[in-house]
Amino acid sequence: MRISVIGCGYLGAVHAACMAKLGHDVVGIDVDERKIAELSQAIAPFYEPGLESLLRDVQDTGRLSFTTDMSAASGSEVHFICVGTPQKKGENGADMTFVDAAVLGLLPYLSPENIVVGKSTVPVGTASRLADLVKAQEHTAHLVWNPEFLREGHAVSDTLSPDRLVYGVSDGSEDHPAVAVLDEVYASALSNGSPRLVTDHPTSELVKTAANSFLATKISFINAMAEVCEAAGADVTLLADAIGMDDRIGRKFLNAGIGFGGGCLPKDIRAFMARAGELGADQALTFLREVDAINMRRRSRVVELTREVCGDILLGQRITVLGAAFKPESDDVRDSPALSIAAQLQLQGAVVTVTDPKALTNAARRFPELHYEADLDRAISGADALLLLTEWQQYRDLDPYALAGSVASRRILDGRNILDAAKWRAAGWSYRGLGRP
Ligand code: UDX
Repeated sequence: MRISVIGCGYLGAVHAACMAKLGHDVVGIDVDERKIAELSQAIAPFYEPGLESLLRDVQDTGRLSFTTDMSAASGSEVHFICVGTPQKKGENGADMTFVDAAVLGLLPYLSPENIVVGKSTVPVGTASRLADLVKAQEHTAHLVWNPEFLREGHAVSDTLSPDRLVYGVSDGSEDHPAVAVLDEVYASALSNGSPRLVTDHPTSELVKTAANSFLATKISFINAMAEVCEAAGADVTLLADAIGMDDRIGRKFLNAGIGFGGGCLPKDIRAFMARAGELGADQALTFLREVDAINMRRRSRVVELTREVCGDILLGQRITVLGAAFKPESDDVRDSPALSIAAQLQLQGAVVTVTDPKALTNAARRFPELHYEADLDRAISGADALLLLTEWQQYRDLDPYALAGSVASRRILDGRNILDAAKWRAAGWSYRGLGRP
């Protein structure tokens, strides 16, 4: 099929490459010339495992091209809208400027029977509003909402083998003409067993926001338990293991630590609360305010714990922060709890060095006042305390015996509860986890 993908960020670039991999003819369109120039040379504009080799593979087939020219969408049967919906400045709601501009820009290039497929995370009600615009331009074209559930760091496999496909169509019916077209687009995933659900427009939009709210709630739940564990002298990691054995609860997303960040969960729960308020259903989501508050409290808690670890003083303490990205296998620092903690520590007088295998360029752009060191050994050397804040494999693998000689003081705060506490203590380190004795 001929497909256009509008917006070539995390979602769109991966989606375009994966659609070409599946055999479709794809054009990726974005207003950012630098991004398009890089993608055209099979360079990924951000770090995502497997993306660059996928771009190279599909580039050789000639099935994938990139451009800044929206008219290139003309001739495609299916048009995916993959632009961002960031949080509005100073407000909780989502900024719809990019989605609206993408759809308006696409309208002149629509042909009869075309399918416009929204993938961005949007406030409920957006799909029906945009469907009216599409119909007004080309009355035989359709708008479908097909939310994307990919996780950064696993984006390629999540796109090629999604755990579910949701098609939100205007009448919510299996017989809607867009359903057969999307089944063709996703034929490979469907034949490999990915389940698919056909819903109406608002349900499909809510599936995404509800899923992300649930995940955020799970993380904040276990972080709230971590607070209680700390007060009671209990161990939240064992608590999570034990409650996670109940398969109604499940162990996934019960890792207590410095909390969630990134470009999705924080802004999605806020946009959801804002939208529920507009709909007069704000009471239904007041618990998300608490989810957000618990999450933000983790950051100040780590600053306080660092002060404790350093003998009740931060001023002049040399602190090395291991990890800047909001999660491992990503160079994304949007709302990264690690960086926000590093910045707070520096404000309180600590001498902070941040290291990360992939995210330092983005981190330096966001927090230019922090000191960065790409070399792990140099970053650690002479530190008064280490803070493990993003669980990259190389930090999981750190050897407490080998490191003992390079730091000034053997103190480590494990913000992700991933190190073997007994091993670090045996090597003479003062070890602190979060929500652990
Ligand atoms: C999320 C959703 O998982 C994905 O389905 C959606 O499409 C986009 O938003 P992503 O932002 O890539 O994906 O990250 P995710 O893996 O969900 O992690 C989010 C944050 O939660 C990270 O900062 C991570 O470190 C944190 N987290 C995750 C925890 O603190 N504890 C956990 O147990 C799990």
